[in-house]
Amino acid sequence: MVQVVQFFEAKEKCWVLTTDRTAYVLGLTANGRLEHRYWGERLPRPADYPGPGERKASYAVESQMLPFDEYPAWGGFLYKEPCLKVTFADGVRDLALVYSHQRQEIGQEGLPVLVITLKDNYYPLEVDLHYKVVPQCDLIQRWAVIRNTGQEWLDLEAALSAAWQLPSLRDGSYRLTHLSGRWNSETQVRQTVLTDGRKTVESRQGLTSAEANPFFAIDILAPDGTRASEEVGQVWFGALGWSGNWKIAVDHVSDPARAYVAGGINDFDFRWRLNPGEEFVTPPFVGGYTAQGFGQASRNLHLYQLDYLLPRSHAKQFRQVLYNSWEAVTFDVTEEKQLQLAERAARLGVELFVVDDGWFGQRHHDRAGLGDWYVNPEKFPRGLDPLIDQVHELGMNFGIWVEPEMVNPDSDLYRMHPDWVYHFPHRSRSERRNQLVLNLARAEVAAHIYAWLDSFLSKHKIDFIKWDFNRPIAEAGWPAAPLEHQREVYVRHVQAFYDIVEQLRARHPAVVWEVCAGGGGRADLGALARFDQCWVSDNTDPFDRLQIQEGYSMAYAPKTMMAWVSSSPTSQHINNEALHLRYRFHSAMTGSLGLGEDLTRYTEEQIAEAATLVAEYKTLRHIVQEGLLYRLNSPRTGDLAAVQYVSRDQRESVVFVFLHSQHYWQAAPRVYPRGLDPAGYYRIEGIIGEEAKTVSGQSLMRVGLQSNLDGHFGSALIKLTLG
Ligand code: GLA
Repeated sequence: MVQVVQFFEAKEKCWVLTTDRTAYVLGLTANGRLEHRYWGERLPRPADYPGPGERKASYAVESQMLPFDEYPAWGGFLYKEPCLKVTFADGVRDLALVYSHQRQEIGQEGLPVLVITLKDNYYPLEVDLHYKVVPQCDLIQRWAVIRNTGQEWLDLEAALSAAWQLPSLRDGSYRLTHLSGRWNSETQVRQTVLTDGRKTVESRQGLTSAEANPFFAIDILAPDGTRASEEVGQVWFGALGWSGNWKIAVDHVSDPARAYVAGGINDFDFRWRLNPGEEFVTPPFVGGYTAQGFGQASRNLHLYQLDYLLPRSHAKQFRQVLYNSWEAVTFDVTEEKQLQLAERAARLGVELFVVDDGWFGQRHHDRAGLGDWYVNPEKFPRGLDPLIDQVHELGMNFGIWVEPEMVNPDSDLYRMHPDWVYHFPHRSRSERRNQLVLNLARAEVAAHIYAWLDSFLSKHKIDFIKWDFNRPIAEAGWPAAPLEHQREVYVRHVQAFYDIVEQLRARHPAVVWEVCAGGGGRADLGALARFDQCWVSDNTDPFDRLQIQEGYSMAYAPKTMMAWVSSSPTSQHINNEALHLRYRFHSAMTGSLGLGEDLTRYTEEQIAEAATLVAEYKTLRHIVQEGLLYRLNSPRTGDLAAVQYVSRDQRESVVFVFLHSQHYWQAAPRVYPRGLDPAGYYRIEGIIGEEAKTVSGQSLMRVGLQSNLDGHFGSALIKLTLG
């Protein structure tokens, strides 16, 4: 085990958590409070870090506006975002947490975990702060367990996972990078300079949401204008593992400037009754520091997902090239049509054939059928198995779409159990896409969902499930529950969702799972701990996708990023017809490749070209899916975008270059690969109009590459192989 937790002061307890390049330091104050002391570059000796009280002195003022408490609980002079807020049974709402004890454990994958227990200095409440250290990824995964050790109830009104404190600034400002968007334009990169006050990114929708994503990165804008870039500069960043209501709040004060980031389950419309002996476990919040810019921050998060977070059963396998029939047929799913598509898909080299929405109940459109998960007998008169068998005979795996948490009012399930959806008495039940959300907080609802999926997976030879969630929660009422439990619904929903998926995975370990929520509404580390891959956006326009995928890659590994080569025009009415098939493939090949076109419309020539591109993807997916990502040129900032993947041993690399438009006959800008072995010689293949040649890694990184792209919407795939 790597010695990552060092004690260097016995009397005045202090913890130095070290990763390969970073350190995170905590200590006790004279009155027994746990204070944060340092988060940044790893220093040579424990004594180099700020000691007790030193940090305060270094800030010149004792600011009450931002706490130094490691896990600030509401009480006393705390005015900023608290991690914890409670009401005790006697009405007291003030918390005073002091250090109690600590222990160290070995967690999953052999990673060391430090657990520091705080307790209220009067009331029977304890908080275990967990720090799982991931040395190679320079990350710390934090979560809290809050325990009622008394004889009476208490209510949690806020129970965040962690607070991250940034170093104080004498000059310059903090810049926040976050991801936001909407349906069809998820994970857009947004940047803003922090000024005094609070900036909150959050979801109150009951799911992670397309509008905001639980990721943050903060860098420093120096007075001379320098700031972190993809490759250099200090960046503090984090991502939260929760697929329901969440928030990340950044508090900022000046003179000197300080920033503090608190995040976890959203306390909006939240309350959790903790009865005697019960505990509440917050979701994990992973944080990291790097001096190598946003690129390294992303690579650290990616490696963490690949090596530790993604479900271990399929983590080491490649994501299969899939075909999904949604854009080709929407709800018009029949055995005959699916088979036609499957035959075509097999000819292209597709490995996984997925039947999307429309195969069940009376699901001829989005107005009926959700909730009735029987195979539609008109569409599949012989049942599902003949299609499954034929897909298997064609040499492909078989996958299917489900949306288990939803119901159409026009369904047998809803007619039988109208009280199973979220609702308030005397209020309307607001529909979105003609559907309502099942209340998974109700044990019988969760049990029903688990039972039908378990029997469905037991009955049929299904290799893959795409799990969708197509609307936010509204009117989150649970009238049958005791009043004191009614605001637990948002959290209980996610807990039940996770629980069902975990149980199903355990019972059906061969099945591969994809998470989806009306596009990319459930892209988060909580989902990626339970699903093997993620549907990133319903927008399959290859040009728009470059931007969506760039944002997604800030936090999430390319292996998890499903990208389809879309129809022309797509079902989203975006006319891609003008775009070359190769361009569309290249855009989708920067993640895990899928196809969504109506393949029956493909000409023989298109089939041949697509088959070649699928085969090419298979030769390089080990680099894309397992390697290190370098964002060379952002699609946001110029006419040319480029993204590069390098195998971890630096022997192979692939650079995708996209030229959106060319002006005035100007040559496309050069691209400068990164992450190569400077002393090695790489064979370069794929430069338009040029024979393969061999160039040193140093030259490639310093002199760059000219892709020779011209015109509009051109793309190149350049392979670099160490000789
Ligand atoms: C959502 C998904 C799509 C598709 C449809 C089916 O929008 O994001 O990929 O599965 O639902 O209704």
